[in-house]
Amino acid sequence: MPNLQQVSIRGKATPVGCRARNPCSPEDLDICLVRRGRWRVSFFEDHTAQDQVRIVMRIGVFCSGGDAPGMNACVRATVRAGIADGHQIVGIRRGYQGLLEEDFYVTRDGRTEMTLRTVSDWTRHGGTFLRSSRSEMFRTSAGQQQAAEILKRHEIDALIPIGGDGTFHGAVALAQFWDGQIVGCPGTIDNDLQGTDFTIGFSTAVSTAVEAVDKIRDTAESHERMFLVEVMGRHSGYIAVHTAIGAGAETVCLPETETDIAQIVENLRALQQRGKSSVMMVVAEGDEGGSAAALQSRLMDAGCPFSTRVVILGHLQRGGTPTPEDRLLASQSGHWAIRAIGAGSSGVMVGRVGGELCETPFPGTFASHRPIPADLLELVATLSL
Ligand code: F6P
Repeated sequence: MPNLQQVSIRGKATPVGCRARNPCSPEDLDICLVRRGRWRVSFFEDHTAQDQVRIVMRIGVFCSGGDAPGMNACVRATVRAGIADGHQIVGIRRGYQGLLEEDFYVTRDGRTEMTLRTVSDWTRHGGTFLRSSRSEMFRTSAGQQQAAEILKRHEIDALIPIGGDGTFHGAVALAQFWDGQIVGCPGTIDNDLQGTDFTIGFSTAVSTAVEAVDKIRDTAESHERMFLVEVMGRHSGYIAVHTAIGAGAETVCLPETETDIAQIVENLRALQQRGKSSVMMVVAEGDEGGSAAALQSRLMDAGCPFSTRVVILGHLQRGGTPTPEDRLLASQSGHWAIRAIGAGSSGVMVGRVGGELCETPFPGTFASHRPIPADLLELVATLSL
């Protein structure tokens, strides 16, 4: 029988299926299926030996916060890997808000357990078919308690939230009222989480932004202009710096570094003297010096030598076909989350660091700001000469 696990049998078991008979007796435990939820684990008291038992769990999966390309691939992976391990997977729509409204994904034949075919062809699609939300109600203690009660009522043993720091803050809060297992997957275009080299959606967002800057460069060259292109990243300059290097931008403004307008104008004059006829400046939306529009006005006041225009890429970066990198990371993360739950982990996010799977406790993923590697910033400066 595949996916059997060695578990220590103590107390009473809650059998949900047995090859020999149902309900099973201790002597049947080598082939019995048991439901495990940490608040409802109970094994037969008179059975203390190590037995092979297939652990069957009801695992909820949902996407929360800003959608990110690759979330669908991640959900698909949890469903396929979960079913392969004998679990039931329940899709929760619209994140924490959907959980509070008991908005479960229902298959065409009216079942709340997702099937292998439910997720057919999900890998290549952007957005999230489970939908997403930012729930105000779940931020309150009353909302978190209500969510815990709903999870208990629907006999959910474990949860896989796919999202960013807000989602994992929510998971920590929920764990105060619910003792099921929670293992998260890193789904955000911002790449601002510790505990993983990259987050699901980042690769696609950067790819979209680079393609946009390439196109804008055509116009910038034709009109000998400077463009300030604003990319997403409220608190993080990751998208901005990767886009700047990928698109060969001359300058980049990030929340992590001081934006010195006088210095930028001086650099722009030097670039013009060296024969540059167009300039691309990538601005992270959360730059401490202001938005791209605000920076444009400050540059003009300081004597910017180029005619300037502003382009805000905005939510364009959140949609679209996921890159192969995002599909791979999403598929691995979903699979790893199922395996981590099976191994008893909880309160952690799975991530990939240096090609290796690792688990990071939720607070460790968001407690400190993830710094931008200094060599990337130097690279922007060096390559723009
Ligand atoms: O967290 C992802 C992100 O796209 C940020 O880069 C951006 O600041 C924010 O979400 C925008 O959120 P919303 O779509 O709710 O306006």
